[in-house]
Amino acid sequence: MNVKYRKTVIAGNWKMNMLASEIKPFIDELKPLLPKTKTCETVLCVPAVNVSGMLKQGREAKISCGAQDVSEHDKGAYTGDVSAAMLADLGVKYCIVGHSERRAYYAESDVKVNLKAKKLLEQGITPIICVGESLEQREMDLTMAHINYQIRAALNGIDVSRIRKCVIAYEPIWAIGTGKTATAAQAQEVCCGIRGIIRDMYGARPARGISILYGGSMNAKNAAELLAQPDVDGGLIGGASLKPADFAAIVAATGEGNE
Ligand code: 13P
Repeated sequence: MNVKYRKTVIAGNWKMNMLASEIKPFIDELKPLLPKTKTCETVLCVPAVNVSGMLKQGREAKISCGAQDVSEHDKGAYTGDVSAAMLADLGVKYCIVGHSERRAYYAESDVKVNLKAKKLLEQGITPIICVGESLEQREMDLTMAHINYQIRAALNGIDVSRIRKCVIAYEPIWAIGTGKTATAAQAQEVCCGIRGIIRDMYGARPARGISILYGGSMNAKNAAELLAQPDVDGGLIGGASLKPADFAAIVAATGEGNE
């Protein structure tokens, strides 16, 4: 982290877990455990049907509501989809795009990820753009080549005034839901590499100001070491975000709770 230049973001990704009726008990349990922090933005990304509930329950606990996906279209005959305008209308501040599960199970292409990020930015919503390599790519030493491609494709046509609004999440596919976390050195190496790509595309200031998160089996135990890396500005957390005590411990690991 480098709190002088960029925001720390701890974002939970609930994926397809938790019922609407479980939000209030979750927040009631989480709220007293959360450290008072001014610099760490705490976000919970929930299924679209639970956005309203999270907005209502999260407000007092200072938890921002995020969504997990958005349509690449503005409006119209796209049964089942949710537009960026619909999310913005409710007050959603963040939305994940290009999560590896969507890329794998719904054939979400880099072109679609780019379109979705642009739709969100048009509505003032921060896209949390996910990138990450497979185990095969890592073993073939293709990690940075793959990530370089994913970042450039996702940000294609997004101008410098809007890059400030974006958050990048580095999520190695082999670390997601496997309990196999990237080492702090691996996370730092790739997050630093991503910042270098942003520097190349947009210049030094935007690169210094953009928040780059790590995701993949981040938990209460390993969070502090990962977050201590200079280019790891936060976390995108799956499993551990479903447990209030674990999620609060990760927020505390940003160091703010120890003041
Ligand atoms: P886990 O923390 O469960 O590995 O999930 C990470 C993730 O995919 C967050 O988007």
